[in-house]
Amino acid sequence: MNEQVKDLLKLMETDSSQYNTKFFTISSGKGGVGKTSFAVNYAYLLANTFKKKVLLIDADVGMANIHVIMGLKVKNDIRKILKETKIENLITRKDNIDILPGFSGIEEIGELEDYALTRLIQKLSKISNRYDYILIDTSAGIDNRVISFIRASGRSYIITNSEPTSMTDAYALIKSIRKLYGYTRFKIVVNMVSSHKEGIETYERLKDSAKKFLGMELKLAGILPKTNNMTKAIKNKEIFCKIYPSEKFCIELKNIISRETGESVPADSGKAFWGRVLRFLSRGK
Ligand SMILES: Nc1ncnc2c1ncn2[C@@H]1O[C@H](COP(=O)(O)OP(=O)(O)OP(=O)(O)O)[C@@H](O)[C@H]1O
Ligand SMILES: [Mg+2]
Repeated sequence: MNEQVKDLLKLMETDSSQYNTKFFTISSGKGGVGKTSFAVNYAYLLANTFKKKVLLIDADVGMANIHVIMGLKVKNDIRKILKETKIENLITRKDNIDILPGFSGIEEIGELEDYALTRLIQKLSKISNRYDYILIDTSAGIDNRVISFIRASGRSYIITNSEPTSMTDAYALIKSIRKLYGYTRFKIVVNMVSSHKEGIETYERLKDSAKKFLGMELKLAGILPKTNNMTKAIKNKEIFCKIYPSEKFCIELKNIISRETGESVPADSGKAFWGRVLRFLSRGK
């Protein structure tokens, strides 16, 4: 860990500001199960129906696509992150959601990526307390960044479908993070189901395995139906629940958020959260 990061961590971890922000990570074992669709619509409903201040972060480095789903023209790249002094200039606002689009250009720039990420985390830690909720859409599978976000979050949604590969990969992700770090604040979302029964059976299978092999109670956040209009909304660069608010997907998602906002989920100070992320990412560097 270099001296600059050490000093930064000292500042972040001694922060005593109010703990008022909830950090939710959205992840999955397998790709293409609906993480970004869940994250974008969750952010939209939180901001517009529940009137919360929301920052949506695209942390799917390399395959960032929130900006595509939301029809945004901007895309951050590493050069912009390194050059830009104000975090506000990297954040875009649409439909009452503040959005930090994912950044690209990694292959070209190589190790500067770590430096850019540290700079970005430092900037984010200064503004996080402005938000009620910060949602982090990650890439699929287990890499250091995904682990760092999940470990630091008060809530980690794991999205799965009912297909066996998607369930096996979801279980593998939960198992690794539970075994290596003792983290248990997961909630399962079963997406793209054809029936409620299919959703319950998927959840029950995961729950039983987690209980039997990991000794943990895996909770259900909710079950979301498959809907034909989802792709239509994306093609039109619109948020699904904005155009189709009465679709079952949106009603169910509202129920999930309503339960979640009514529950006491651990809140954090921005500096403490980002300090934990940075400490994990800088191990051994
Ligand atoms: N409930 C749903 N019903 C129908 N289609 C859906 C639903 N949820 C997501 N989709 C579709 O599935 C595809 C993948 O969704 P999305 O991009 O949200 O997944 P992802 O998990 O973020 O993928 P990746 O791992 O590539 O980031 C998209 O075409 C999206 O429109
Ligand atoms: Mg995605």
